[in-house]
Amino acid sequence: KIKSLILAGGVGSRLFPLSREHYPKQFIKLKKFDKSLFQMTFERCLKLSNIDEIYIITNEKHKFLVLGQIEELGYEINNNGNNGGFNEDNILIEPIGRNTLPAIYYGLENSKNNKENNSNTIVGVFSSDHLIENEEEFISAVLSGQELAKEYMITFGIKPTEPNTGYGYIKPAEKLNGGYIVGEFKEKPDLKTAKQYIENNYLWNSGMFLFDANIFKNEVKKHCPDVYEAFKFNSVEEIYENVPDISVDYGIMEKSDKVAVIPLNIIWNDMGSFDSFYEYFEKDDQGNVIYGDNISIDSKNNLINTSDGKLVSLIGIEDTIVVDTKDVLLVCNKGESQKVKDIVKYLKNKK
Ligand code: GDD
Ligand code: MG
Repeated sequence: KIKSLILAGGVGSRLFPLSREHYPKQFIKLKKFDKSLFQMTFERCLKLSNIDEIYIITNEKHKFLVLGQIEELGYEINNNGNNGGFNEDNILIEPIGRNTLPAIYYGLENSKNNKENNSNTIVGVFSSDHLIENEEEFISAVLSGQELAKEYMITFGIKPTEPNTGYGYIKPAEKLNGGYIVGEFKEKPDLKTAKQYIENNYLWNSGMFLFDANIFKNEVKKHCPDVYEAFKFNSVEEIYENVPDISVDYGIMEKSDKVAVIPLNIIWNDMGSFDSFYEYFEKDDQGNVIYGDNISIDSKNNLINTSDGKLVSLIGIEDTIVVDTKDVLLVCNKGESQKVKDIVKYLKNKK
C-alpha cells in the first residue's frame, strides 16, 4: 500500500457558473453518479492506501466541504489524532493556493510524523477532478508502479483522443520494466504542437503521480530551489508568503530526467471544461447532452444544463454550450470552453 495525497484546492474556474469559488467543481454532485468527483477520488484512494494514509490538501474555505463529503460516504472522522483512522489531521490546509508543486510538497512535509504507523514513502498524488472508469485496471497499474517508483517519478499516460491544449504531453522513450523513460514532457502546448505530438504517439499526462518522497524532494531542490528554500521557514504563513506559484508539471516534470511513464488503459476524463463534459456524457439521437428541463427543435450537438428547474428551449442551435444557473447564464461555442476561465478572471478583477 502507498500513501495518497489528494489535491483538492483548485477553483475549477473553467466550469463557471456551475463551479464557484465557494463550491468548486470537484465537490459538485454529478447527477449520473450521485457523488462528486472528490468523493469518487477518495473511494479510489481507499483501494490504494489505508484510510489513515490518505491526505487531502485544500484550503480553509473548502475544509468543511471535504469533511462533509467524506462523512457522507459513511466514514467517521475522529478528532483525536492518536486514534488512527481518518481524522482532521488528514486534511491539510494551505493558507493560499500556490498551485500544485507547493501543495504536493506541503503534503509531503505534513503527513509524515503526525502518526506513528505512517511509514510509507511511496506516495501517490491524485487530482480530485478526474473521472475514471475500469477502476480495477487503474488500481493495479498504480500498485504495480511501486517498484519503478524506487528509482523514477512516475507519471501515468493516457492515449489522447484530440489535440487538447489543457493537458501535459509525454513522449515515451526507452522501455523499462513496467513502463518507459520519459523522453520529453511538455505541459499545455499550443494547438499546433499538440497536433504534432499526437501524430508522434505522445501520451497525455493524466495528472497523477507516484514517487518516492525523497527522490521527489531532491528533484525539487535541484530544479526549483525557490520552492525548496521556502519550505525551510517555520510557519506555514511564512512558507506560503515566500513560495512561488508553480505547478508540478512546469516545475519538475518538464525538467527532471528521472521521470518514467506507465501507460494506462482506462477511460479517463479530467472534467476540466464543458467540452470534456460534452465528450464524456451520453448523447441523445440529436447529439445533445441534456441535464434538466429542455425542449429543443432542430438543435444538434449541444450541451444543455439547467440547474434550477427552469425550462430551456432551443431552436436551430448547434454546437453550443448552454449552462443556466439561478444567477448566471453561460452561452458558449463548443470548442471554446477553455476560455470560460477568462470570464472568471474578468469578474475577479471587477470586484
Ligand atoms: N491544494 C491545492 N492547492 N490543490 C490545487 C491547487 C492548489 O494551489 N491548484 C490546483 N489544485 C488541484 C486541483 O483541484 C486539481 O485537483 C489538481 O490540483 C490539478 O490542478 P488543475 O488546475 O486541475 O491542473 P490542470 O488540469 O490544469 O493540469 C494538470 O492535470 C492535467 C490532467 O488533468 C496537469 O498535470 C496536466 O499535465 C494534466 O494533463
Ligand atoms: Mg484539472
